[in-house]
Amino acid sequence: MDGNGRWAKKRLLPRVAGHKAGVEAVRTIVRAAGDMGLEALTLYAFSSENWKRPEEEISDLMGLMKRFILSDLDEFAANDVKLKVIGNWRALAPDVVALIDNALERTAGNKRTTLAVALNYGAQDELVRAATAAAAEGAITAEAIEAHLDTVGMPPLDLLIRTSGEVRLSNFLLWQSAYAELYFTDQLWPDFKPADLQAALDQFARRERRYGGL
Ligand code: IPE
Ligand code: MG
Repeated sequence: MDGNGRWAKKRLLPRVAGHKAGVEAVRTIVRAAGDMGLEALTLYAFSSENWKRPEEEISDLMGLMKRFILSDLDEFAANDVKLKVIGNWRALAPDVVALIDNALERTAGNKRTTLAVALNYGAQDELVRAATAAAAEGAITAEAIEAHLDTVGMPPLDLLIRTSGEVRLSNFLLWQSAYAELYFTDQLWPDFKPADLQAALDQFARRERRYGGL
């Protein structure tokens, strides 16, 4: 989800207004993803590199995150959405950790859609943690690493979308994207609508996936 800051700048608004609009887009897209029958959706909300941002912006983002969980948890619970958090989220502030713990527990039995939120997530950090855990148990094999990734239990990554015209992965799901289809759109995240998600899915459906075969 990229482009909140530029969305705000275009409107001469503070960056936090872009992040608020970004939360609205999350709400709309999560609902649409459920309606479209997506099994899982992972949203990159805060990276392990976002700590480089000004303290005020970080606190705005954490505040929005907390408010989002508080306001939308009932809807997730009611709509059979299972929440998952990937990344080193236990290192976040204790009040955020407590909120997440409660949200995970409340939605643990849900089955329709898994909504994974990447918080304090970096793929290299995830891989170091997974490899370390695998090594502690024996040989470091691809299967052993996979078993210790934060995404364990989720379906394979099929489609990875990045908004705002940037054409890079920025440390997101590096292992999981080995055979994912990549989709880049110039649209800024707050402008990304269910119809845009549908357009990405339509293009995905037309791609031919060979996984290294013929
Ligand atoms: C949102 O967009 C991504 C988050 C870290 C929440 P940005 O804040 O990166 O927006 P731009 O790139 O400055 O436009
Ligand atoms: Mg950005």
